[in-house]
Amino acid sequence: MRSHRLSDDLTVLAHAEEIPGLGHLPVNAFVLHAEQPVLVDTGMPAVREEFLDLLWSAVDPADLRWIWLTHPDRDHTGAVMQVLDAAPQARLVTTFMGMGILSIEHPIPPDRVYLLNPGQSLDVGDRTLTAFRPPLFDSPATTGFVDDRTGACLSSDCFGAPMSSAQLALADDVAEVPGSDLLAGQRMWAVVDSPWVTWVDRDRYAACLGEFPGAGSPLILSTHLPPARDRSDELLDVLAAAPDVPPFVGPDQAALEAMLAGLAPEPRAAQEAAVVAPT
Ligand SMILES: [Fe+2]
Ligand SMILES: [Fe+2]
Repeated sequence: MRSHRLSDDLTVLAHAEEIPGLGHLPVNAFVLHAEQPVLVDTGMPAVREEFLDLLWSAVDPADLRWIWLTHPDRDHTGAVMQVLDAAPQARLVTTFMGMGILSIEHPIPPDRVYLLNPGQSLDVGDRTLTAFRPPLFDSPATTGFVDDRTGACLSSDCFGAPMSSAQLALADDVAEVPGSDLLAGQRMWAVVDSPWVTWVDRDRYAACLGEFPGAGSPLILSTHLPPARDRSDELLDVLAAAPDVPPFVGPDQAALEAMLAGLAPEPRAAQEAAVVAPT
């Protein structure tokens, strides 16, 4: 993991998760240094301690006021309870559905929750964050937001892409990623994360893209893509073509066995190694 200060009012907490066969997926959380500081998502359980170290280097737990949970998938909820415990002023921003899904695993105190639906806004002192449902999503509880002070748009899983290396997954800006790699990664991610996009009504989907509140945004922030400055038109073009991407089919049992066979030593080689191994 690494954290980097993208601007005066934004810190990125970036992790790269290797997924065999897909690549290195960025898994980002963000600290919005608003008058009332906002944490967006809480990292992955597997890197919880590292995440918390980076988080509390970026913001004092006593100052944190909001935890905006874009959706309750586990790659976004890794430290949710630890952050709530450490930051007594912080309230968890989610939807009714998000609160319900979270409660399956976590004892979320209802008085620490702030329910916000798409179309509603949150006043964080020096700016207003207006929630929306992104065009592509993998949870019914998903909300992104637009920051009315900077125009930044936080899109949750939407616009994500696995990268060819961990270094690119942790990049300061998506401009570092070769264009053809980015396009291929985003097309794949669109049908991996939102497989339903291949059977949508095209006209309705196009209308939905036309209503995207982040159109023209100077900064698109995705939880699964390096920060993207001045790329909103290009990113929307990729989404527009997503219904025509061939559906993703993951490796099956035969492929898994082939992968495992490739990793294991040949029986004869293992035998020879045993003979020459020091005792
Ligand atoms: Fe997700
Ligand atoms: Fe995700």
